Amino acid sequence: HGSPLVDRYGRIHTDLRISLTDRCNLRCTYCMPAEGLSWLPKPELLTDAELLRLARIAVTRLGIRTLRLTGGEPLLRRGLPGLIAELAALGPELSLTTNGIGLARTAADLKAAGLHRVNVSLDTLRPERYAEITRRDRIHDVFAGLAAARAAGLDPVKINAVPVRGVNDDELVDLVDFAARHGYRMRFIESMPLDAQGAWERDRMITADEILDVLGRRHRLVPVGRHANAPAEEWRIAGTDTVVGVIASVTRPFCGGCDRVRLTADGQLRNCLFATTESDLRALLRDGSDDDRIEAAWRVTVARKGPGHAIGTADFVRPDRPMSAIGG
Ligand code: GTP
Ligand code: 5AD
Ligand code: SF4
Repeated sequence: HGSPLVDRYGRIHTDLRISLTDRCNLRCTYCMPAEGLSWLPKPELLTDAELLRLARIAVTRLGIRTLRLTGGEPLLRRGLPGLIAELAALGPELSLTTNGIGLARTAADLKAAGLHRVNVSLDTLRPERYAEITRRDRIHDVFAGLAAARAAGLDPVKINAVPVRGVNDDELVDLVDFAARHGYRMRFIESMPLDAQGAWERDRMITADEILDVLGRRHRLVPVGRHANAPAEEWRIAGTDTVVGVIASVTRPFCGGCDRVRLTADGQLRNCLFATTESDLRALLRDGSDDDRIEAAWRVTVARKGPGHAIGTADFVRPDRPMSAIGG
């Protein structure tokens, strides 16, 4: 399976996140403006065949072992079950990050195609508040999507929430209790300065310490640690099987153990969520380059990866693309 994809700090990359589209059917206020963004034109998107070729190179030559499909909203990609079946045939662990809308309709097909698990974004349990945060009145589709994912045997089903001060920070305990009741895993994410509007404010971010403090007043939390290089640190609620995760990108950065590379929907390879440069793999795909050439470009991109993000320092530079066009 080729030599490992290693950078100059010795980090070995085994995880590839693939954005399938930059479009979304929600308009989360912390992510994009109400009118949406100027979406990538169709001809600029990788076709399924192009995407599969890159995934095959990643898995067979570069040591990639886990694939995560992201967006925008990946369920908006046409023919997704077929694409998943072909990716699954390559043999990696295969997961998907979705806002959950449309999952009720597709979960069983995705599972049958070979998808292993899903992470579903849900920032609140209150319908009116959901409509304010996402600018769409669709919380019941998400509840139905979660239930369908569990029923289909996608396992585990994780819920991602981004707590924002004054918006949904009073629901941390409710979200954990909801997840526990339904057999989902709850995770809280520190908000990062990756919104399209540049409106992120550090003071509105709820920190990992605050999250643990609030949850700790209600439940006794037993540290579980971190799975390999995963962003999430986990705690178990004492006396239960319920696991809660915290992704503290800002206050407890995990860049030193990062094992991820990212491919955007238009075929640009990014060595970091916060990278300020990309490599144009789509151009190589379309100019007839062979697999050796693509493999080499991939290795060069990873080799020049920086040590980590600089959020909160004078050196921080916002990436050119917002989160929704990178895939998170
Ligand atoms: P699991 O494999 O289930 O642990 O998934 P994940 O947490 O890696 O992926 P998911 O798509 O659910 O992302 C959850 C949050 O973690 C999102 O806000 C991502 O932007 C963030 N995240 C994922 N990978 C990275 C990373 O490499 N760096 C940073 N800073 N954040 C990341
Ligand atoms: N910071 C942190 N997480 C974010 N997400 C979206 N925007 C941000 C941000 N600025 C979350 C979504 C989804 C996950 C993939 O990323 O809520 O759960
Ligand atoms: Fe869509 Fe995710 Fe952005 Fe919300 S956070 S608008 S669900 S891409």
